[in-house]
Amino acid sequence: MAAQPVAYQHFAAFYDRVMDDPGPRADRVVAAIRRHRPVADGAPLHLLELGCGTGALLTRLPGTWSATGLDRSPAMLAEAQHSAPGAELVEGDMSDFELDTRFDVIACVFDSLNHLLSEHRWAATFDRVLAHLGPDGIFVFDVNTTGELERLHEDPPFVHEFDEGTAIIDVSAAQEADGSMLSHWDIRIFVHTSGHDYRLVRETISEFAVPWRTLAPLIERRFDLLEATDESGGPPSDDAVKIHVVARRPGRS
Ligand SMILES: C[S@@+](CC[C@H](N)C(=O)[O-])C[C@H]1O[C@@H](n2cnc3c(N)ncnc32)[C@H](O)[C@@H]1O
Repeated sequence: MAAQPVAYQHFAAFYDRVMDDPGPRADRVVAAIRRHRPVADGAPLHLLELGCGTGALLTRLPGTWSATGLDRSPAMLAEAQHSAPGAELVEGDMSDFELDTRFDVIACVFDSLNHLLSEHRWAATFDRVLAHLGPDGIFVFDVNTTGELERLHEDPPFVHEFDEGTAIIDVSAAQEADGSMLSHWDIRIFVHTSGHDYRLVRETISEFAVPWRTLAPLIERRFDLLEATDESGGPPSDDAVKIHVVARRPGRS
């Protein structure tokens, strides 16, 4: 299989300023962990984040937890090195990694899994997660739904003004016969240089989504499914923005 090009090479330097406040999504992950893998305040917990990006989640974990972040993009890891100096950072592919540690929690959030463009690679990632979870370890992840990618395709581009310029993100998506959806995010950042001059930074990032009827068995074949909800805690739906999942390594200690 041909290797995918490494995305985020150009977008990484702007990512934190262009994307939404990561606080609420980090709070959501920490709350899910506390519900299903309770630890006393001050007790250690070892977490691995797959697709850690610039470290938005890693920097918002309780200080007694130890954090490892794995990402495929050297540019995103370079940002994380500044923002999360206490975390161990590893360059790697979430569908094909081997670490000699077993974790209490593995997280993969803010649609990082959608960046793998086939069901086969999602399944390979779940297998790597299973191999790296310790006893009672939990897997917390989210995905953009097929409905969300379709809505983003139909909507006008997002325009974000930020201190250094303007970012325009235009999503196109197409549905496959099996109901899966492949989307391409054309990211253009007009960086203000001086006066009326701008420099264009451009990158395309692709995302893939599958219907819940395809995703659920991929999870249930490997894990005990503890929670699967839409944004507001309702049942998982292909019309939701995201599906949020908490699953446990089977065989409780
Ligand atoms: C949308 S960003 C999310 C970053 C971070 N989790 C957050 O909450 O801000 C997706 C991240 O997944 C990473 N990624 C994409 N494909 C990957 C792969 N196969 N293995 C590891 N990381 C990957 C990208 O480099 C990027 O940093």
